[in-house]
Amino acid sequence: MRKKIVAGNWKMNKSMDEAMILASEVVHMVKDEVNSDVQVIIAPPALYLTTLQKHTEPVANMGIAAQNCSNKASGAYTGEISASMLKSIGVTHVIIGHSERRQYFNESNEQLAEKVNIVLENGMTPIFCCGESLEQRQGEGFFEFVASQLTEGIFHLSSEDFGKVVIAYEPIWAIGTGLTASSAQAQEMHAYLRGHLASKYGQAIADETSILYGGSCNEKNAEEIFSQPDVDGGLIGGASLKSREFTNIAKSF
Ligand code: PGA
Repeated sequence: MRKKIVAGNWKMNKSMDEAMILASEVVHMVKDEVNSDVQVIIAPPALYLTTLQKHTEPVANMGIAAQNCSNKASGAYTGEISASMLKSIGVTHVIIGHSERRQYFNESNEQLAEKVNIVLENGMTPIFCCGESLEQRQGEGFFEFVASQLTEGIFHLSSEDFGKVVIAYEPIWAIGTGLTASSAQAQEMHAYLRGHLASKYGQAIADETSILYGGSCNEKNAEEIFSQPDVDGGLIGGASLKSREFTNIAKSF
């Protein structure tokens, strides 16, 4: 049985005080209300990881993610944060290749493949993001485009390492726009991607890989989207900034 996961990507939002309040509310609600077979992850800004990790750590089904990390191990890279630093403060997951990183910081699949490696070497779980733009969705070949992001970003991994990766399909046209992929569109892409994983790693490993949906997922549409057979949870942006709504999403399996 593959893992059900709901991850909240806070992006560049919240002051320290606000972040502490949000995290402690989420932790309490998750403890009291969310089934223990659902893994709930928060991804606050890097600055707050050390403090907030202390809130999430005691809760067995919670994790804490960085939104990015360097593709380099250490050294003279001013402003960067390494995977080993994240590991040393108890970070469990790292979001790799979010479309905003690809778009605004020109991250290539090649760099992302290096980031995936370094996250795995440090014993954390990469949440590898993929997804097509609106222009691509309106044209031809967008299934193949998303598959190629996986091929170039994670298909160099051994089967053993591949088994540790979580995938997030996030159509760019649905991120922060209020436009959600329909549950049928999400299922269609997720099933296609699972087939792509199976063609490389075999059906058994493909069936064990969690594929999350992201893009304007909220407490109203999560149940319908998560009920699709190939959707294993969500990567939640805007709706993860409110503890009640985020917890309701985690409860919608
Ligand atoms: P959104 O963002 O839920 O605000 O659309 C999702 C994401 O970017 O991970």
